[in-house]
Amino acid sequence: MPIQAIILLGAPGAGKGTIADDVCRETGYIHFSTGDMLRAAIKQGAPVGRQAEQYINRGALVPDNLIIEIVMQRIDSGGAAKYVFDGFPRTLDQARLLDAEFKKRGASLNRAILLEVAKEVVLQRLTGRRVCRNCGANFHVHNIPPKKSGICDHCGGALEQRPDDMEATILHRLEVFQQQTAALIAYYKSRGILARVDSSRPRKQTAADVMKLLEPPPASSAG
Ligand code: AP5
Repeated sequence: MPIQAIILLGAPGAGKGTIADDVCRETGYIHFSTGDMLRAAIKQGAPVGRQAEQYINRGALVPDNLIIEIVMQRIDSGGAAKYVFDGFPRTLDQARLLDAEFKKRGASLNRAILLEVAKEVVLQRLTGRRVCRNCGANFHVHNIPPKKSGICDHCGGALEQRPDDMEATILHRLEVFQQQTAALIAYYKSRGILARVDSSRPRKQTAADVMKLLEPPPASSAG
């Protein structure tokens, strides 16, 4: 089986991580989040984490060369698998490099699915997000509250706010999305693999719609 992937595209807070988790739990796809990989490298004190931390904490993108290096290392060590890319690619250069690397490996990119959500919803979601310090599970103080306030349902770890979820940093991340990532919408539309899903609805409905889109589109039907 060749490597296959779909991309979840969307602004910070669009629900990429949440929906990727739901889809992967149901389908056997592997959740591939560059944000999670970078945060794990920071936690471990790895050299790549030390380089990435300064960018992440101020809401800027980590340089493309660093990202492509960690992505392709992970893919090459994973063998044949199906991936949900969350937060990658994020620039046109990353998208073009991914295409070139996938071509070399005979891998296929089935879809780029844009999770669409209004800015007010994003702000509400990100300011209320809480993440488990231990296992990384995601909660929201109002939308997806843990059973016991401040404690992870899965492992009992303490919940904390991400350093880049302060309002000023969120606003900067939204600008960076418009300036550097939004161009990918046209890029994947022109390749005929773009699909759009309304991500302002409850997660179950959003995930169900994404699951219908895992296979490549029939010729000339995407966009
Ligand atoms: P990353 O971790 O990828 O952050 P992001 O793209 O900004 O996205 P978020 O994780 O903030 O949001 P999300 O869309 O996943 O939403 P979530 O599901 O969590 O990247 C962080 C940083 O790393 C970047 O800024 C950059 O510096 C660096 N980086 C990463 N990849 C890079 C790359 N390829 N190139 C360069 N730099 C890179 O949901 C948010 C909240 O809403 C949660 O609390 C959740 O519980 C809640 N929620 C979700 N869905 C729903 C719903 N349907 N209803 C109600 N609440 C919901």
